[in-house]
Amino acid sequence: MEIKDLLISWYLQHKRLLPWRNTNDPYKIWLSEIILQQTRVDQGMDYYLRFAEAFPDVFGLAKAEEQVVLKLWQGLGYYSRARNLLATARVIANEHQGKFPNTYEGLIGLKGIGPYTAAAIGSFAFGLPHAVVDGNVMRVLSRVFDVQEAVNAGKGKKTIDELAEYCLSKKDPGTYNQAIMELGALVCTPSNPQCTACPLSVKCLSLANKTVHLRPVKVKKQKATLRQIDYAVITSAAQIVFRLRKEKDIWQGLHDFPSVESEHEKDALIRLVKESYPENEIARVPTLPEKSYTHQLTHRRIEARFWRFEMFGDIPKNSIYLNVDKKDVDSLAVPRLIHKYLEDANMI
Ligand code: ADE
Repeated sequence: MEIKDLLISWYLQHKRLLPWRNTNDPYKIWLSEIILQQTRVDQGMDYYLRFAEAFPDVFGLAKAEEQVVLKLWQGLGYYSRARNLLATARVIANEHQGKFPNTYEGLIGLKGIGPYTAAAIGSFAFGLPHAVVDGNVMRVLSRVFDVQEAVNAGKGKKTIDELAEYCLSKKDPGTYNQAIMELGALVCTPSNPQCTACPLSVKCLSLANKTVHLRPVKVKKQKATLRQIDYAVITSAAQIVFRLRKEKDIWQGLHDFPSVESEHEKDALIRLVKESYPENEIARVPTLPEKSYTHQLTHRRIEARFWRFEMFGDIPKNSIYLNVDKKDVDSLAVPRLIHKYLEDANMI
């Protein structure tokens, strides 16, 4: 049997029952794929079910406010994906009468949809013959064909793309694509792969060559950059001061606190608070941070320190910042790091 037939017949017996596999609705498939690019299936399931319930079709999502979408996305990180999700829903609702394009070129022209997502939606919803290539697929193919080049750069990446198209079932590309990803998730795992249970073991060159544990080869990505943020948590009895992050930067559209970013500069932070609010209204100027956290994002590490400034009386209104009643804090869309602080400080 050929690789594609071995994969499909294994998949039909072993596949997990996942909600986005019971549909050929391109909207639901798109939603699931965007979420699953951010997280594993077990955690992604909850997010998918919440989104699908809140917005059962693309018109529902298109009508949503950005803050509501960001709030539902909270915890997944990479918030530009959530903003692209909304922007694309609006384009499809308003310019395509709610219908997803049924060609690869049409799909890949949409914001937030790259080669992987276009191949996934195209094959699962419309049976288009395009192979998906994600981390699972790279691992399976690099092992079956014992690819010695790095799969995440230049020539090796091209080799994987060509092998993926070569192996694809043109008759049933959707099932084939699900099958190869499922094999990577359940059997051909990064460590301790279950080669004895693998339907491709008879074909697997790296199994024959005893190089399974060496595949895939990857080149090291650049080291994460470090950002050090000092936050001023300005509170009164009833309120907390937040800032909406509008800049094109991490966490755009989410709320955090007034801050300075440098080499951990407490003095600059105190100056910021004193310039934003008249000095006589600060009840206590902190001498030590209340809490410190290290937070890992995809390409950067964030070291955040939180300094608590308590204010006498009501916090004066200010054109830059937002005074939020403590009872309303939990409904704000905030980065995971800020949520953790708010929890630890008993503010939500
Ligand atoms: N990961 C990405 N897409 C997936 C899918 N459709 N099913 C299971 N896991 C996935």
